[in-house]
Amino acid sequence: MEKKYIIPKFKHMLHGGDYNPDQWQAYPEVLEEDMRLFKLANCNEMSLGIFAWAALEPEEGKFDFSFMDKAMDDIYKAGGRVILATPSAARPQWLAEKYPEVLRCNERFERMSFGRRHNHCYTSPAYREKTAIINTKLAERYKDHPALIAWHISNELSGECYCPLCCQAFRDWLKEKYGTLDNLNHSWWSTFWAHTYTDWNQILPPSPMGETSVHALRIDWRRFVSHQTADFMESEIATVKAITPDIPVTTNMIPGFYNAVDYRRLNKNVDFASQDMYPQWKGRDPDDANVAMYAALQYDTARCFKHKPFLLMESAPGLVNWFQYNKLMRPGVLEQASLQAVAHGADSAQYFQFRKSRGSAEKFHGAVVDHVGDETPRLFREVQQVGKRLAALDEIVGTMADAKIALVHDWSNKWAIDEAQGFQKGDKRVIPTLESFYKPLWKRGIDTDVIGFEDDFSPYSVIIAPMLYTVSEELGEKLKNYVKNGGTLLCTYMTAMVDENDLCHLGGFPGAGLKEVFGIWNEEIDTLYPEDTVPVTADGKTYTAVDYCEVIHARGAEVLATYDGEFYKGMPAATVNSYGSGKAYYLAFRDKGDFTDMMVERLLAEKNIASAFDGALPQGVTAHSRTDGDTTYLFLENFTASEQTLSTALCWTDVESGEKLCGTITLAPHKTVIIKK
Ligand code: GLA
Ligand code: ZN
Repeated sequence: MEKKYIIPKFKHMLHGGDYNPDQWQAYPEVLEEDMRLFKLANCNEMSLGIFAWAALEPEEGKFDFSFMDKAMDDIYKAGGRVILATPSAARPQWLAEKYPEVLRCNERFERMSFGRRHNHCYTSPAYREKTAIINTKLAERYKDHPALIAWHISNELSGECYCPLCCQAFRDWLKEKYGTLDNLNHSWWSTFWAHTYTDWNQILPPSPMGETSVHALRIDWRRFVSHQTADFMESEIATVKAITPDIPVTTNMIPGFYNAVDYRRLNKNVDFASQDMYPQWKGRDPDDANVAMYAALQYDTARCFKHKPFLLMESAPGLVNWFQYNKLMRPGVLEQASLQAVAHGADSAQYFQFRKSRGSAEKFHGAVVDHVGDETPRLFREVQQVGKRLAALDEIVGTMADAKIALVHDWSNKWAIDEAQGFQKGDKRVIPTLESFYKPLWKRGIDTDVIGFEDDFSPYSVIIAPMLYTVSEELGEKLKNYVKNGGTLLCTYMTAMVDENDLCHLGGFPGAGLKEVFGIWNEEIDTLYPEDTVPVTADGKTYTAVDYCEVIHARGAEVLATYDGEFYKGMPAATVNSYGSGKAYYLAFRDKGDFTDMMVERLLAEKNIASAFDGALPQGVTAHSRTDGDTTYLFLENFTASEQTLSTALCWTDVESGEKLCGTITLAPHKTVIIKK
C-alpha cells in the first residue's frame, strides 16, 4: 500500500481552519495579533475567502485583493499554508440585484429575495459566469503563491431551486436519462392515476403545489438536484484547474449524512473529500461512545468516497451555536474528537473558525480566538495541544485503513425507502439501521469501509448491506458474483424490492436474481406498532423483533433463527445460504441490537477478521488503524471520562514519545494513544 498524499505540496497533518480577515479589515491590530496567535496555537493552515465575495468584488468587475494578498503573505510568513475558497457560497448584493435569476425559487416556485447564504441557483448561466470570473481572478493572482496548497470549492453545497431554468434543466436531464417519453412513462408507472406525460414540458419538479405522488419522479428529482449541484461545482473546478492544474480541489460536506445531495456523486470529480463534523458530545445521548460511533461512521464514509485520506475541514473548538442547547465542550474532548477523525483517515483537524466574528449570526460559535482576543482561554490551550500532537504525526499522513469488511450506504436507496408508502409512515430509520450494524464493529475495534454500489467489492471478505431496497439487475448480478466468488454477504428485511427506477421486482422478493443467492422467498412483511414485539429464537436463546418481521420461506437456505410468536411462529427469521464459494445471510427482522451483535461476531469469526489491537476493549474504548502496508498505526481511543487500562500480549511503540509499551497500556480520560508495533 503506497501512501496517498492528498496535498502533495505539504505532507503534514493540517491544523487550522476557516479564517475571515475580510471581516476585520478595519482592525489592523487584530489582523496582526491573529498571526501571533496562529503560531502560538500550533496552527499551520488557514482556509481563506469562503464568504468573501463582497470584499473581493465590491462592485461588478471592480476587484480588491488587498486583504487577501496580505493574508496570503502573512500566513505564509507565519509558516502556514492556505486552502483558498471560491466564494460562491454567498453572493454580493449587487449580483442579486442586477441578475435576479441567481436567486433561488422555493418549492412553491416563488422567487426568494436576497439574504442568507448557500442559496444560489445552480443552473443560472449568470451565476456560473460570475463565479467563473471571480475564480479565474483568484487563480491567476495566487497560482504561484507558495502558500496555496488546495482549493475549497464553495461551501457546504446544499439546497435546491425550482426556478424556470432549473425546471428546464430537469427536463433535459430526464431526456438524457430516458431518451423517450414512453420510457419515462413506463419507468414512472405514470398510467397510475392517469398521470401519463404526453409532452416533456408537462414535467415539473415535485411540489406541494402539484405533483407529490409519483415516487420515481420524486427520486429522480433528488438525483437531478445532486447532479446539478455537482455540475455547478464541476464548472467551478474547471475554472481553477485551467490555471492551477496541479493544485488539488475539494469541497466540504455537511455532517449527518446530509440527505439532499448524493455525496458519492458530489465527490466524483474532486481530488479528495472533506468532511465537517460537529458531534454533540455530552448531548441528549449522554454516552459519548454512541456520539463517537456516529462520527466514526461518517468518517469511514467520507474516507471511502475517494478511498484516500480526507480532511476534517471544520469542527468546533468549543460549543457550536446551533444546537437546541449549546453545552460547553468538556476539557480534553477537543483533543479526543480531533484525533478520532485522524484515526479514521483524516489528515487534518481544522476548525470553524479561527477568530470568532464580532457580529451577526455566528458571533457566539466556538473559535480558536475568542472575543477576549488573546491566548488565555481554556480552549485556546486545548487547540495548542491538538496542534502539538498533530505535529508529531507526519509519518501517518497518507496512510489508510485496510478494511476487510464493508457496509453499504447509498443515497438513492435511502430516498426510495423514504418515499415508499407502506411499511410504516414517517422515518423508516435507514441511517439508524446502518448505525446498528456499525456499532458491533466499532466497539470491537474493527476497521470498516462504507461503500456504494459502484465500488469494487473484491477487497472485502464481508459486505453488510442493510435495507438494500433498491437493486438493479446489474447490482443483483454484481452481488451474486461477489458471493459466488467467496464473499460473505449479509442483507436484511426489505432487500431488492424495487429496481433502480423504483419499479417493484416481479417474480418474488428479493428480486434481481437474489432469491437464488439467499435461498429464500420473502412473501410478506409485517410492520409492528412501536409497542409490539415478537420473540425470535436462535440456538436456544430468545431475541426480540421490533418494527419489521418479514414472513420468509427457506428455499435451500439453512435456518438460523425462527419466530416464536404471531401467526408466523416457527417460520424462519434469519437464514444462511451457501452459494458458489461464498455465503449469503438474510436477517428477516429488525432486532434490538443483541441479535445483530451476535451475527456480526459470527461473521468476523468465520472470516478471521480481527481488530488491529490484540487485547480486550473496555466499554467506551475503541481502536482504529491506518497503515502504509508496512507499518500499522493504531489509535487507542478512550471516550470515557475515566482512566482505562488495556492488556496486550505484545510490545508496542508510542508513536509520539517513542516509549515502549508492553503488557498494559493506560489511557487517561478522553485520551488517545497512538502506537505501532
Ligand atoms: C457550517 C458552515 C460554516 C459555519 C458552521 C457553523 O459547517 O460551513 O460556515 O456556519 O457550519 O457550525
Ligand atoms: Zn434555479
